[in-house]
Amino acid sequence: MNKSLRKAVIAGNWKMNNTPSQTTALINEMKPLLAGADCEVVLCVPFIDIAAAVEAAKGSNIKIGAENVHFKASGAYTGEISAEMLKEAGVEYVVVGHSERRQYFGETDQTVNLRSLAAINAGLKPIICVGETLEQRELGYTETLLKYQTKMALTNVTADQLKDVVIAYEPVWAIGTGVTATADQADEGNRYCREAIAEVYGADVAETVTIQYGGSMNAKNADELVAKENVDGGLIGGASLKAEDFSVIVKAASK
Ligand code: PGA
Repeated sequence: MNKSLRKAVIAGNWKMNNTPSQTTALINEMKPLLAGADCEVVLCVPFIDIAAAVEAAKGSNIKIGAENVHFKASGAYTGEISAEMLKEAGVEYVVVGHSERRQYFGETDQTVNLRSLAAINAGLKPIICVGETLEQRELGYTETLLKYQTKMALTNVTADQLKDVVIAYEPVWAIGTGVTATADQADEGNRYCREAIAEVYGADVAETVTIQYGGSMNAKNADELVAKENVDGGLIGGASLKAEDFSVIVKAASK
């Protein structure tokens, strides 16, 4: 194991929060706090906030991401946004398959795979979310489920393209609940994802893939979580809406 082969990525997931003017204000507040970070810093924002976010982040180390992407290039898909549109708007990352999209918007392992491929082919970096529900964990399916979701999401993704892919292990029971996985549970979940990649692409390739932990990561627990062997940063919901808290997490991942 060699963690130094991998880039730590701290990505905020704003979900359905902040208007364009609030976006500008929050990024302006964050910029000085995040300057000099020794990890990749990303803010994934609502589509309507992308233009304001890209403008506000100019000249800083903050990369802008979207929270979803459609899998078709163009056409009669009312209300959807294509990868090419995001790319031209200045987006670099995109969250794919978040559990809220799987749960409330009918996202499946197939569409997660298609969205990931669309993102990669347009030059975007997908942050692909996988994670078990509490029921699946209690039934003992965590490893099976995480390996299945990871492999399904990466179908037809080449080993070379994996350099632009981030996996986020997000136990569904820890998202937005204030219940965080223990550092050992996070490390174990991330290890299952890495093993799934190793089973398809080989151990050497798996060692290079960034795998985040997500689920109530905050300013208090970030240190312990990101110190784990398999945890290469985090996908942060609630705590990414506060400049000070988010900057503490970024500093933890910069050590
Ligand atoms: P949370 O969200 O940090 O608010 O739990 C994480 C996520 O959904 O990515």
